[in-house]
Amino acid sequence: MFDHRDLLEDLNKHLPLKEKIISAHRVIAKKYTFIARIAITLYDPETRLLKSYLHSSGDDQPLEHYQTLLNDAPSLKEMLKKNRPRVINKLVTFENGKHEHAQRIGRQGYKASYTLPMFHNSEFIGFLFFNSRKGDAFTEKILSDLDVYAHLISLMVINELTTLKVMNAALKTTSNITHLRDPETGSHLDRMSRYSRLIAQSLAEKYALDDDYIEHIFFFSPLHDIGKIAIPDSILLKPGPLNDEERAIMNTHARKGREMIDEIISNFGLDGIDNINILRNIAEFHHEAVNGSGYPEGKLSAEIPLEARIVAVADVFDALTSRRPYKAAWSNEKSFEMLRQLACEKLDVDCVNALIENRHEVEKIQQYFKQNSYG
Ligand code: C2E
Ligand code: SIN
Ligand code: SIN
Ligand code: FE
Ligand code: FE
Repeated sequence: MFDHRDLLEDLNKHLPLKEKIISAHRVIAKKYTFIARIAITLYDPETRLLKSYLHSSGDDQPLEHYQTLLNDAPSLKEMLKKNRPRVINKLVTFENGKHEHAQRIGRQGYKASYTLPMFHNSEFIGFLFFNSRKGDAFTEKILSDLDVYAHLISLMVINELTTLKVMNAALKTTSNITHLRDPETGSHLDRMSRYSRLIAQSLAEKYALDDDYIEHIFFFSPLHDIGKIAIPDSILLKPGPLNDEERAIMNTHARKGREMIDEIISNFGLDGIDNINILRNIAEFHHEAVNGSGYPEGKLSAEIPLEARIVAVADVFDALTSRRPYKAAWSNEKSFEMLRQLACEKLDVDCVNALIENRHEVEKIQQYFKQNSYG
């Protein structure tokens, strides 16, 4: 009898996916020291974008916040068409790569890569990359070993995405019920979640935000007003301005939203999801104001979680540019002007600037998710 320690024991633990990937990388690197990076890119079939998602390589982040259309990455697209992984054993392929992502990888000093498409029930979900600091690193023997790890990693990714899907379904159903009554529509949610992501992406460098955080903001921001389900129709759908008493009731939607989220998390056993606090914070704090005049807590700027400051700007901008039972739709110009006025007072100035600086992207989102007849 001898004592064997399970090298992959970290995978049993309750750890965020990123930690598990790092741990798996450590195990692989014990055997194959030249493997310097494992990275995952996810595919969004709706927009056809490939987006960097998670990687194991610490500060060395050649593709952090990178996104590209699958169509603009011919070698990746080809791999998918042939349904075969791709081995690149020569640095020169990267250096001469026409595309920015290949060049970034080359500049980082990687000399070889092994790339596999990941599937779930035959549906393409993204790519998994192994990058090597050594050229000619990948022999047939090593590749077949890596394939096992690759499938393990893709199962972990699928598990995470499935949990997120379950949660999304739970939250979407709840939110659809909410919006049966709420004047805010699905296209509001489509737009404001993308404005939120745009702001987060633009602040990523300054605030050292990782892709995972940014994606979670995107996933969770549509739930910001879930608490409106608790608001009576007479107030929620009132065509004119609210009186003080109605306003006080309306303002309870933030706290109520937090309570509902807590209940959903507990009922669906979703505590294990990375960054679930982002969702709680968005629901509870998206109406806080940087000067402390907001609700429900009256927090001051730095006390307001960043995700809530981001969503606040996205929400107000979309509220301004949309028709509401109590107001007409404003132009982008007028709305940006209002955001500038609200910056420092109610809204976070960095978040406001991030949105305004990306007005071209804002317009694209508006084109793509046009208002329907319900506003
Ligand atoms: P909402 O319609 O989604 O608006 C979200 C936020 O956008 C508002 O948060 C406010 O900060 C901003 N906003 C919307 N319209 C305007 C505007 O015309 N001018 C300015 N400066 N900001 C605007 P707020 O004020 O806390 O309101 C929360 C929710 O309360 C609103 O969500 C809406 O559902 C409701 N609400 C607010 N005011 C009225 C109103 O006068 N009548 C009715 N029926 N509902 C209102
Ligand atoms: C993801 O699964 O993280 C990507 C979702 C999306 O961007 O639509
Ligand atoms: C990568 O290896 O991370 C992307 C570069 C490419 O294969 O086109
Ligand atoms: Fe709200
Ligand atoms: Fe809203």
